Amino acid sequence: MEKFIVHGGSQLEGTVNISGSKNASLPILAATLLTREQCIIRRVPDVSDTNYMLQILQNLGAEVERSSGNVTIKCEKLRSHEAPYELVRKMRASVCVMGPLLARQNRANVSLPGGCVIGDRPIDLHLRGLKGLGAEVTVDGGNVHLEARYGLNGQEIDMLGKHGATVLGTDNVMMAAVLAKGTTVITGAACEPEVVDLANFLNSMGAKISGAGTPRLEIEGVKELGGVDHTVIPDRIEAGTFLVAGAMAAKESITVRRVNHEHLEAVTDVLSACGCKIEPSGDTIKIYRAKNPVGANIITDPYPGFPTDMQAQMCALFATTPGHSVVKDTIFPQRFMHASEMKRMGANIDVDDGTAQIQGVEQLSGAPVMASDLRASAALVLAAMKAKGSTEISRVYHIDRGYEHIDDKLIDLGANIERLPA
Ligand code: EPZ
Repeated sequence: MEKFIVHGGSQLEGTVNISGSKNASLPILAATLLTREQCIIRRVPDVSDTNYMLQILQNLGAEVERSSGNVTIKCEKLRSHEAPYELVRKMRASVCVMGPLLARQNRANVSLPGGCVIGDRPIDLHLRGLKGLGAEVTVDGGNVHLEARYGLNGQEIDMLGKHGATVLGTDNVMMAAVLAKGTTVITGAACEPEVVDLANFLNSMGAKISGAGTPRLEIEGVKELGGVDHTVIPDRIEAGTFLVAGAMAAKESITVRRVNHEHLEAVTDVLSACGCKIEPSGDTIKIYRAKNPVGANIITDPYPGFPTDMQAQMCALFATTPGHSVVKDTIFPQRFMHASEMKRMGANIDVDDGTAQIQGVEQLSGAPVMASDLRASAALVLAAMKAKGSTEISRVYHIDRGYEHIDDKLIDLGANIERLPA
């Protein structure tokens, strides 16, 4: 295991290149199971989550080659239809092989994902949707067995849950429906850009999906799909994380490059309201640190609302923003592990019933803290950059799951971070 030592007080300046989206890459890699032909997927970030997904695909029989950000995959012959617990437990998103396996082989055995620190991670909506397409589903010994002996049949499927739409659930049902007999209508579909990127990938393979980006998808089943060369969208959460780094610690401004600013409107709107100046231009966004920063009240929502994956980073910003701020997470109400760690650094944060009340303090002070989930860990790095003294962040493998060389990128902007063996 490794740890970061972050020495506070640096001021950031310059430009950072944003990587391709982890959360677009994962379902798109799974979708290669739907064809025997070769697929090339470009700008796949080199992070442990995408590496786990490639291991799962190889386990199923895929031929995989990786050169820098480009992945070449061919699922000509599959030797298994199982995604085993030892791999699924490491990465919940592996559940999104269920839909393509079912579509390709009429069966799938996938381990139930465990929960994680951001909360219970059920897949009831995934299973309800796949059952709706005609799959028989049984759960025993911690594994989900799905079978569609006579193939899948298009249906009207409602994917809405009590916390709103499900991103990977929408992906799973969409990937199952593209080879089903007849037409499927998915209502209550997730509208995230990563779902749209998957739909674009599938349509490039020959699928017939309309309505991506809206809550209603229409999918006309086809006989087979072909190989494709696709570049994944930029990672809007990595970009948002760096924008918050700029809001907190820019000397004057920093620029994020290779981004789609339409995907970041909810985040840039809040940062503007907090007093930052935001200048989108082409595939870049420049952010100027606020001269008179003010707090805000945030409620997370499915896209295009404020993303839950950005709420920890905002807590880090508000921890030293004068005044009172409120951050409510309606999607993962337990997702506040970062708050207790920031309190060790002197933050004034009270969390109750999925809502953080934050009173900005003059300055945080360095302390040993522990990374927990991916975004909470990134938020601790941001807080540590602003703190007096040095902060030791243990278990940085959580950060490496979803951020490509975050320490090197921050160092290039002027941060003072050491990566050391734990
Ligand atoms: C995706 O997870 C993302 N992961 C998450 O990002 C992100 O936080 C989440 O969407 C919400 O935007 C990937 O794309 C790989 P959901 P997903 O199903 O699809 C409930 C990160 O940091 N729900 O949209 O697993 C669920 O409990 C990760 O990159 C059910 O009740 O999330 C939650 O409250 C963390 N039943 C809400 O829906 C289900 O069957 C949204 O979850 C499925 C979900």
